[in-house]
Amino acid sequence: MIHLHRLSSPSTAQQELAKLHHALNSWGCFQAINHGMKSSFLDKMRQVSKQFFQLPKEEKQKCAREREPNNIEGYDNDIIYSENQRLDWTDRVYLKVLPEDQRKFKFWPQNPNDFSYTFLSPPTLNELYRKYKAETEVIIKAMTNSLNLEEDCFLNECGERDVMFLRFNYYPPCPMPDHVLGLKPHADGSTITFLLQDKLVQGLQGLKYDQWFKVPIILDALVINVGDQTEILSNGIFRSPIHRAVINSEKERLTVAIFCLADSEKEIKPVKNYSEIYFQYYHQGKRPIEASKI
Ligand code: OGA
Ligand code: NI
Repeated sequence: MIHLHRLSSPSTAQQELAKLHHALNSWGCFQAINHGMKSSFLDKMRQVSKQFFQLPKEEKQKCAREREPNNIEGYDNDIIYSENQRLDWTDRVYLKVLPEDQRKFKFWPQNPNDFSYTFLSPPTLNELYRKYKAETEVIIKAMTNSLNLEEDCFLNECGERDVMFLRFNYYPPCPMPDHVLGLKPHADGSTITFLLQDKLVQGLQGLKYDQWFKVPIILDALVINVGDQTEILSNGIFRSPIHRAVINSEKERLTVAIFCLADSEKEIKPVKNYSEIYFQYYHQGKRPIEASKI
């Protein structure tokens, strides 16, 4: 567990940084507390997203993904790429929130009517994206410090135009939970991912020592993990952890993921626009990062 607030105050930063380095080097993820987002706001995020998924299918289809291979935004189930693919047991909405001029509002749910307000309007907008950007910078700088590199060198590689996606994951109950996965094993294509877990239903697992470990639910904490872009930036020193989501037989589960990515125009050597490569491989159950190695 990392107190994000302590990371940025001089009297406590040193001790908290040591914990952060340890977490990033061992698991590649941690639970962030004291991140400055109010409990009531986190509840609101969960509530409006759940309301959307509980709507009739026809209503949700109004912001459906357009089924072209490289389109990921909008509402959909798992994307079918090939006949032999095992589909994830999930309903999802993907939205690009940054850069601001690339938002496609036709994919933003109009119902419930406070959905867009919750995720887009000030002051929540500022609360959410500024905060995540600031936190991402603290974490990335902590990584470069621990490698004895110049503090801004990873951030400079990521470029000025941050890319951020929101992904709402809704996992309906399944009577045969041992036969399906909510999300198949994967590592994220991001620099850093923030995950707001369901308050009551556990489901996220991380792979370590060839075993699956449950990621506990900690009230109001955000799970933060590094993604493939960080693994690439650090030349494999910081590993992007493999994780999956399992299904509950009786209860639905909802999570909200926020993916921070590098500017898609910037080359993070040796790849440019990694998210495009990412999805082609993800659906085959392969690790996209393997495709980027030279
Ligand atoms: C993801 C993810 C886990 C979860 O969205 O990439 O890993 O528990 N989600 O929903
Ligand atoms: Ni993930």
